[in-house]
Amino acid sequence: MLSGKKVGIIGVGKLGEAIALGLMKNGALGASDIFGSAKRDGSLERIRSKVGIEALASNKDLVTKSDIVILAVKPQNVANVCADIRTALKPTQLIISVAASVTTSYIERHLQADVPVIRAMPNTPSLINAGMTAICGGKFATKEHLALAKEIFESVGLVVELDESLFDGVTALSASGPAYIYVVIESLAEAGVKLGIPRDISTLLAAQTMLGSAKLVLETKQHPALLKDSVTTPAGCTIDGLLELEDGRLRVTLIKAVVKAAERASQLVSGGCE
Ligand SMILES: NC(=O)c1ccc[n+]([C@@H]2O[C@H](COP(=O)([O-])OP(=O)(O)OC[C@H]3O[C@@H](n4cnc5c(N)ncnc54)[C@H](OP(=O)(O)O)[C@@H]3O)[C@@H](O)[C@H]2O)c1
Repeated sequence: MLSGKKVGIIGVGKLGEAIALGLMKNGALGASDIFGSAKRDGSLERIRSKVGIEALASNKDLVTKSDIVILAVKPQNVANVCADIRTALKPTQLIISVAASVTTSYIERHLQADVPVIRAMPNTPSLINAGMTAICGGKFATKEHLALAKEIFESVGLVVELDESLFDGVTALSASGPAYIYVVIESLAEAGVKLGIPRDISTLLAAQTMLGSAKLVLETKQHPALLKDSVTTPAGCTIDGLLELEDGRLRVTLIKAVVKAAERASQLVSGGCE
């Protein structure tokens, strides 16, 4: 369904860039199929030179050239962008918003048109085909629109369809999640440095251990607690490390971090979450 479609990304910043590069890396779309916009001249230049796609200063021009428009601006800018592109949009086009906190009904209201809207919450590992994206459809979105959005984000990782009421949780868990994971990787690497392992090797050990452990969870579908038990020999060294993690309240800290981020996600745009 995606083949032959033109995709315009309004706001090629960190996430927009990851999506554009991810789509091209996997051959889902070519550079001539994707357009991008940004606010500053320097960003437009970066889109041309680093991302390698056509960069447009006008969001309206971008919309006119696109079948699918991905809104990847900050939540606070969504209303302005909707007002900007409103007159250029046709109901045959599809809007996909990746903005945290912004509901499909908020976008529908600001577009003032019966244009299909999909809300998607991807993450930056989309850049290397390891993304995790949740999607849901607005009032005018059909199964076909959801299938198209699924195809876009499946070309850069895994996709789940979820009720919109769960999106602040998804934002806090899998969209913000890479930041938490980097802190864990950085901390494990620091531990290696403390124990005399060179920093680059230590970071490799930590990151590959994170990747391998995550793959075991996904591929074996075993409960993480069972996989943890398989590493923990009675009276061995791992249990001593685990006791330190419990003492440092790692579990409760991670849970509270995600819950706090979800609370913040619900406040990013006033009136965005209903
Ligand atoms: N980063 C993530 O991991 C992540 C994950 C999931 C969802 N999101 C969502 O994705 C969206 C973008 O986040 P980000 O981290 O990629 O932010 P970002 O790096 O700041 O990118 C935002 C982009 O929007 C551009 N922009 C601002 N106003 C514009 C306008 N009127 N017309 C066209 N472009 C405009 C900015 O242009 P300039 O560069 O010229 O300022 C910038 O390139 C947010 O809504 C966020 O909630 C992000």
